[in-house]
Amino acid sequence: TILTASLAKPATSSSLTLRRPDDWHLHLRDGAAMAAVLPATARQFRRAIVMPNLKPPVTTVEQAHAYRERILAALPPGMSFEPLMTLYLTDATQAEDIRRAAESPYVHGVKLYPAGATTNSQSGVTTLARCTAALAALEETGLPLLVHGEVTDPDVDLFDREAVFIDEVMEPVRRDFPGLRGVVEHITTRQAAHYVRDRSQRGVDGRPNLAATLTPQHLLFNRNALFKGGLQPHWYCLPVLKREEHRQALLEAATSGLPQFFLGTDSAPHARHLKEMACGCAGCYSAPVALELYAQAFESVNALDRLEGFASLHGPAFYGLPVNADTLTLHKSPWTVPTELPFADGKTIVPFLGGETLPWRMAD
Ligand code: DOR
Ligand code: ZN
Repeated sequence: TILTASLAKPATSSSLTLRRPDDWHLHLRDGAAMAAVLPATARQFRRAIVMPNLKPPVTTVEQAHAYRERILAALPPGMSFEPLMTLYLTDATQAEDIRRAAESPYVHGVKLYPAGATTNSQSGVTTLARCTAALAALEETGLPLLVHGEVTDPDVDLFDREAVFIDEVMEPVRRDFPGLRGVVEHITTRQAAHYVRDRSQRGVDGRPNLAATLTPQHLLFNRNALFKGGLQPHWYCLPVLKREEHRQALLEAATSGLPQFFLGTDSAPHARHLKEMACGCAGCYSAPVALELYAQAFESVNALDRLEGFASLHGPAFYGLPVNADTLTLHKSPWTVPTELPFADGKTIVPFLGGETLPWRMAD
């Protein structure tokens, strides 16, 4: 249809133009931190699904609307960017909260953080058995459930927690609520990639009922990067990088052309001193280099012609939103990523791959 038509020009050896992309999984934080990182995202992306794991979390429609206003107020003049808001599911979320979220033009999903799985997930869900009414309301309204897909059982090996989550949580929930629309966020394993590849079905509206987002770091690196030449905190995120066989399965999924796979950076800013400490925070601040890294990953398997679908078309189709009207151009023009950038409160932040030279660069 006209809504999903490609604006991509065939990639030459030196440049690539695609329809303006969106980021379907992003952490923007709040206050001065948000003001510091927002322009990096708004420069590349027209819209982003904004994660609700603030302190305290965004659990009501009113809070989501107020957060949206703060984001818009922090946007530098001349930049256009639309934050797509989400609610944070808790044991106390009521069916009525979900219905009101589904009615809001600004709320596009509800995020499931298993309690204790990651940054600011303390208020997350202890057991999905407590969320039956909320899940039924999601199924009824069609508002997507966005999932951090890791079990939190300390007896399960950290590297296995996503695969176990698919079997023990995702599959039972989808069986109990067959009309539920779900996104497994930032997938990191072959098991998750194959599950979403094989089990997603088109609804009556033609939209996939199960999707996954993929980050640049999981497409480009395996877990060796965490330990290369010493402990590398800037490669540490959750779910953590996995073995090479998983990276290859993720790259295959991202470049498959299947509509259930789309771009979500999971850009997760933490100040430099909170990453480079004895107990460093999880999260890669990839926003300043996001499209460049996806282009690098797609080019590595000769799939630049599939980048526009992944970055700009599949996400809007899943969320039932129009695709963007304008375009973005990348040039093959090697450049070196700054080693640090200004952040909130006089602190600095290290962008993902700071100090490294990248082959692609977004045109100004
Ligand atoms: O690495 C991560 N950082 N993973 C998450 O799930 C949360 C995120 C954050 O908010 O910092
Ligand atoms: Zn995230």
